[in-house]
Amino acid sequence: MILYMGADHAGYALKEFLKNYLLQQGYEIVDVGVYSEEPADYPDVAHKLTAQLVQEEQPALGILICGTGIGMSIAANKRLGIRAANASEPVSAALAREHNNANVLCLGARVVGPELARATVEAFLRTGFSPEERHRRRVSKLELIGGESPSRTD
Ligand code: RB5
Repeated sequence: MILYMGADHAGYALKEFLKNYLLQQGYEIVDVGVYSEEPADYPDVAHKLTAQLVQEEQPALGILICGTGIGMSIAANKRLGIRAANASEPVSAALAREHNNANVLCLGARVVGPELARATVEAFLRTGFSPEERHRRRVSKLELIGGESPSRTD
């Protein structure tokens, strides 16, 4: 599993904390920046990470960190093929994978402390997409948004 990680200045310290932990766990990390606490614009980082993630041929997920996780999730979800979930605790992170097949986890470094962030990331990484048809149907409909309207609402 390859993990793409990115943060703006507000998320830099948490990114470094999580990156060190995940490297120890044996994950391959692609760190798209930023590399200091110099002010940075979250859309630039989200754009860079998601562009690389959708091109990746190996199994891969992304982690984006800003102050709240909100800016990163809004920006990341602009790209077709990205399903970014802003989660602050493990239950939402696991369900984002299981029900929504989220491929990017967004975290708010001003919202969660390092230990809660680590637990949230672990839940995200250890959970897979549900094999149940209803979840797969719903996620497939996400690709229709912006195009033809889906006909079913159940
Ligand atoms: C930066 O101050 C802050 O606005 C940014 O990290 C993020 O929280 C935006 O959503």
